[in-house]
Amino acid sequence: MNPLNHVAIIMDGNGRWGLKFKNSRKAGHKAGLNTVEKIIKSSIKHNIKFLTLYAFSTENWKRPKSEIMYLFNLLENFLVNKIDQLHTQNIKLKIIGNKNFSSKLNKLLKKAEQKTFNNNKLQINLALNYGSKSELLNAFKKLKKNKQKISENNLNKYLQTSNIPDPDLLIRTGNTNRLSNFLLWQLAYSEIFFEKKLWPSFNENDFKKIIKKYRIIKRNFGNIS
Ligand code: IPE
Ligand code: IPE
Ligand code: MG
Repeated sequence: MNPLNHVAIIMDGNGRWGLKFKNSRKAGHKAGLNTVEKIIKSSIKHNIKFLTLYAFSTENWKRPKSEIMYLFNLLENFLVNKIDQLHTQNIKLKIIGNKNFSSKLNKLLKKAEQKTFNNNKLQINLALNYGSKSELLNAFKKLKKNKQKISENNLNKYLQTSNIPDPDLLIRTGNTNRLSNFLLWQLAYSEIFFEKKLWPSFNENDFKKIIKKYRIIKRNFGNIS
């Protein structure tokens, strides 16, 4: 049985769900947050140590301003209302991505990261304003600036995921089979599951079924046996 240490998720399909059931994309984003809470709980149950959630990409700035504002508002409220609960559950929150938001949100994010820094039950990496290409370019720039050899180890040190093992499992909901600029380097050997359900409809049972399938995959890493 494969160990499962790190699960990464592209939480896609909120907008379509919202339009279909509530006639509003925003309602879909709100409903998506409930799934986030369910999957956090479930991750703890499955003894997963790292959960990386793609919440906002560097490309998502192309969306209408009102949708972007709504998303960041949801996030602010989530941080204000839920951070104590996450902390009591011994969950560590880390943001990956370019942290250049409003000063209010920047402060909230920093506070949440600091408060939960020493927690060790589950680490949630929230990918916010995250883009893998930008992350890789920045890492190469740092290598160059510090006159360091271009090697896998040195590059890893400058990625935002330094000290985080690569994902064992990637799940993308929303019936779309692409990576959308997410963890391109780190997913080199992850097992990938594309799920038809839209993120707000995804539940603990769907998660459990994927984990069960993942556990018995023969992972070769290039080898034969
Ligand atoms: C994913 O859901 C959440 C974010 C990108 C913030 P979408 O908003 O992309 O939902 P669809 O794909 O349009 O249904
Ligand atoms: C990927 O979803 C980003 C997040 C889930 C945050 P998108 O909906 O933005 O992806 P594309 O644009 O359809 O590839
Ligand atoms: Mg989408």
